[in-house]
Amino acid sequence: MKCMQDSEKIEDANHSTDQQGNYHIPVLLQETIDGLAIKQDGIYVDCTFGGGGHSKEILKLLGESGRLIVFDQDEAARKNVPNDKRIIFVAQNFRHLQKFLRLHKFPQVDGILADLGVSSHQFDEAERGFSTRFDAALDMRMDNRQPVTAAIILNTYTEQQLHKIFEKYGEVTNSKTLAKTIAEQRTIAPFTTISLFKQSLQAIVKGNPNKYFAQVFQALRITVNDEMGALEEMLQQAVAALKPEGRLVVISFHSLEDRIAKNFFKHGAVAEPEADDVYGTRQESPLIIISKKPVTASAAELKINSRSRSAKMRIAQKK
Ligand SMILES: C[S@@+](CC[C@H](N)C(=O)[O-])C[C@H]1O[C@@H](n2cnc3c(N)ncnc32)[C@H](O)[C@@H]1O
Repeated sequence: MKCMQDSEKIEDANHSTDQQGNYHIPVLLQETIDGLAIKQDGIYVDCTFGGGGHSKEILKLLGESGRLIVFDQDEAARKNVPNDKRIIFVAQNFRHLQKFLRLHKFPQVDGILADLGVSSHQFDEAERGFSTRFDAALDMRMDNRQPVTAAIILNTYTEQQLHKIFEKYGEVTNSKTLAKTIAEQRTIAPFTTISLFKQSLQAIVKGNPNKYFAQVFQALRITVNDEMGALEEMLQQAVAALKPEGRLVVISFHSLEDRIAKNFFKHGAVAEPEADDVYGTRQESPLIIISKKPVTASAAELKINSRSRSAKMRIAQKK
């Protein structure tokens, strides 16, 4: 099978993933539940509650004494929390995982799930500024309490910083020209809206404009929300937050995220550890990898949810 580049798999901002008005269709649902190996009386964490699709399924398998702590940095997700005494909603970034688990008196849990990225709902809300389909302010914050918007990045990052983010997070083919054009255009007028931003780049768009802008927007979104930084911080806390034999399940949509998860599962650390004694022995990873290869969507799921195309799930268990 042809291996797709991120640029081909990119979440298509011109394609609404859900025609039925659902907040979000959960990806790899059964695979996630299997990966978490749910115990009836267990304590679980859904780091990315969103529409609550995965959480709903976890709750079905939990008994009376089971508990589910769910995080979402987007307050909009709160409305999806079911009226169920077993669930606790934490409207915070999952990079503060340990702090809030301790606060709620669950220092260790049986399983942690992270289904990364944005929800279909966030894409479909024009005023959030995530989608290239609408005109709105250049925002893209999942957490409206955070000060940094896409407009701030476009108007204040140096040309070199812009070049780097478009190359790294968007794989934009002409990222250098793009950064140069942005730096020039903003001296005429600062960037404020999506339509003005897109218009000012018309002359340098490469290939299919929808795909081009989807890549540019993806890079901005990842930067605005410091998605890689948050993932690394959460993973670094996850091992301590898991009980022995607790499960860690990460679903990613970008090759850099998947690489972070893969390396973390292998070494139990974000950076590859250095040899730590005279014999060059490395400290053993505190995790056992359950999924030797990333789990991807079945043909049946691909048919009903185009977003599942780029989903990669990795499962590990604490030793
Ligand atoms: C892909 S959606 C999750 C969908 C969910 N699994 C479902 O079945 O509906 C990702 C959600 O996680 C949230 N999110 C992303 N990064 C986050 C972070 N660092 N901290 C907290 N929430 C985050 C987003 O706001 C979004 O609602």
